[in-house]
Amino acid sequence: MKKLVLIFIICLMVSVFMFAEEILIGFSMDNLRLERWQHDRDIFVETAERLGAKVLVQSANGDDAVQLSQAENLIAQGVDVLVILPHNGKVMGSIVEEAHANGIPVIAYDRLLMDCDLDWYISFDNVRVGELQAEYLISKKDSGRFFLLGGSPTDNNAFLFREGQMNILQPYIDSGAVEVVGDQWAKDWLPQEAMNIVENALTANNNEIDVIVASNDSTSGGAIEALADQGLAGKVFISGQDADLAACQRIVEGTQSMTIYKPIKDLATQAAFLAIASAKGIFMRPNGYVDNDLIDVPSILLTPIQVDAVNMYETVIMDGFHGLEEVYKNVPKEQWPE
Ligand code: GAL
Repeated sequence: MKKLVLIFIICLMVSVFMFAEEILIGFSMDNLRLERWQHDRDIFVETAERLGAKVLVQSANGDDAVQLSQAENLIAQGVDVLVILPHNGKVMGSIVEEAHANGIPVIAYDRLLMDCDLDWYISFDNVRVGELQAEYLISKKDSGRFFLLGGSPTDNNAFLFREGQMNILQPYIDSGAVEVVGDQWAKDWLPQEAMNIVENALTANNNEIDVIVASNDSTSGGAIEALADQGLAGKVFISGQDADLAACQRIVEGTQSMTIYKPIKDLATQAAFLAIASAKGIFMRPNGYVDNDLIDVPSILLTPIQVDAVNMYETVIMDGFHGLEEVYKNVPKEQWPE
């Protein structure tokens, strides 16, 4: 599969390289608060500029009205293609009609735009993300009291992660082995929201929680702070996603059980190629279709990777996503991987 992707990228590079110089890309982003979106932006811009295109990046800092207005402004500036990481997929879906009226294709980046005639969706297989999270937790604890800590309710991905998690957990719940003792969603994926939710959950359950099914690393970090306040950090299995540096440190230090590594280099690089090809009207082949409540959106879905302390080195570190020294900085050197 990797070889196919490589051939695909090389062919694409050749086919679009000669035509990219006059391309203007608009990239509308929910926020740059989270570490991973800074990686996405940097790699996307670097790749697009290497191909001779120009990129206008706008961050809405989590405000729907601001993101809508910024996207309208990018259209007014005459971008050749609009790439959107929506804060709210339903709200931002409304911009597609205006973009198309100006002959501008629209690509949803990592998060789907809902209920619109969207040209492309490029992301990871987010249902699979949830399955990998739950599979890992069940492999460590296949019975007991589970708390479900969902992501942002404005982010369609949060529901895809939960769908995947329940694909794995439901049989254990139905058999009575797993008891769901709470289910809350963290606004905007904020660590503080997650910490408050888990503090309340621990109080309501007299600290008797065995597993927390957290959907990403920022919320996992907030939950772990709440666990630490009760002396439970490292004693409760907890998932994550994004391989943030702080999360990778927590994993090798034993307070977070795992994360999902989504090679952002692959996502952002392929998104840059897709944007330039779309702007030039060059045909691209989807590897899937995702229903956005109006159409089955042509999609490019990449494969997520389950990471824990055992395979941290050969995934996140060997990929160059984080350095060995930064991930293991709080671990005695004699315990570092060879
Ligand atoms: C989701 C994304 C996750 C995580 C989360 C927090 O949309 O798929 O990887 O980054 O946002 O912003």
